[in-house]
Amino acid sequence: MKEKLLSYLVCPACDAALDLSVSQNEASEIMEGELRCTACASSFPITRGIPRFAELAHIETDKRATAENFGWQWRHFVEADQRYAEQFLGWIAPVTPEFFRDKLVLEGGCGKGRHTQLAAQWGAREVVGIDLSEAVETAYAATRALPNAHVVQADIYRLPLRRKFDYAFSVGVLHHLPDPRQGFFSLASKVVRGGHVSAWVYGAENNEWIVRLVNPVREKITSRIDQRALLHLSKIPAAGMFLATKLIYGPLNRRGSTLGQYLFYNDYLSAIAPFGWREQHLIVFDHLVAPTAFYISRDEFEEWWRELGAADVTITWHNKNSWRGFGEIV
Ligand SMILES: C[S@@+](CC[C@H](N)C(=O)[O-])C[C@H]1O[C@@H](n2cnc3c(N)ncnc32)[C@H](O)[C@@H]1O
Repeated sequence: MKEKLLSYLVCPACDAALDLSVSQNEASEIMEGELRCTACASSFPITRGIPRFAELAHIETDKRATAENFGWQWRHFVEADQRYAEQFLGWIAPVTPEFFRDKLVLEGGCGKGRHTQLAAQWGAREVVGIDLSEAVETAYAATRALPNAHVVQADIYRLPLRRKFDYAFSVGVLHHLPDPRQGFFSLASKVVRGGHVSAWVYGAENNEWIVRLVNPVREKITSRIDQRALLHLSKIPAAGMFLATKLIYGPLNRRGSTLGQYLFYNDYLSAIAPFGWREQHLIVFDHLVAPTAFYISRDEFEEWWRELGAADVTITWHNKNSWRGFGEIV
C-alpha cells in the first residue's frame, strides 16, 4: 500500500477517517500494518502490501463462494495479453484512453488488475482497484510498481472509500453479485457530481441458449467442483471453441468476407478469435466457475441508470451479447 492511498480510505462501518500504523515497509510500499478507525472500534490489517477490509471467512455464503472461485481463477490465469487494452476499450466505450488523464478512478472488482493497470498507464491521477477475492494478490503484484495504482481487498457493497472519484467502472462483475443493481449503486455512490460511471454486464438478449443449456450445468456442477478439476474439464469446451474460432469464425470474418454473418453467435466468437489458447481457456473457465451469473435485459439495465439519475446515458449492445453503459453523475 502506498501511503497516499490513506486520504481516500474511510472506515466501511462508520465512514470515519482511519489512522495508519506501519510495521513493515519495502521502499515506498507499506507491506504490513494496520488501519484503525478514528471513531469506532474497527481495525483493518494491511498484509502483503494490501489493505484488507473484507475477511472471506466472515462474508455471506453466496458472496464467499463467488469470491473463492474467482480468487482461484485469477491466481491461476495471471498472465497479461497484448489485446487487453483493445478488449477493455470495447467494454467501456465510448471512453477512450485520453479520458483517464488526471482523473481519480475506481475499479469495482478488479480481478487480476489488468484494467487497473491500464487506467494507471493511461494517466489516471490515481486508480484504486477493489476486489473481494484473493485476486487482489495478483492485482497487487501487477500494479505495485505503478506509482498511481492501488489495490484494496473489499466488498463492492461496503466500499471503504470517500466519495471523491471522477470515474468508476466495473467490467464483468455486477452480474456475478447477489444483487447486481445494488452493487452498481454502491459503486456509483463514490463518484462526485459531474463524474462518470461505466458498467458492462452480460445481456439477457441473444443469450437464451446459455441460460437454458449452460446455466444448469454451471449452477449444479461446474461452479461446485474443485477448481483444479474444472481447469482440466473446461479444456474440452475450450478446445471446441478454440478450433471453431481459428478454423471457421476467424477466416470467415476476415476483411472482404461477409460469410461470418451467417454463423451462430458470430459477433462474440469472431471478437475472441484473435486470442490464443490460454486466453480462450480462461474465457470458458470464467463462464463455468461462477456460482452466480445474471443475464440482464436492456430494459432492466436502463432502469438502473434511470434510478441512479445519471445524465447523458449511453447504453450500447456489445458483441450482440452484452450491455455497456456510460453516464454522468448529477
Ligand atoms: C469475471 S471477474 C472480472 C474481473 C475484472 N473486472 C476483469 O475484467 O478482469 C469478476 C470479479 O468480481 C469479483 N467480485 C465478486 N463479488 C465481489 C464483491 N462482492 N465485491 C468485490 N468484488 C467482487 C471477483 O472476485 C472477480 O475478481
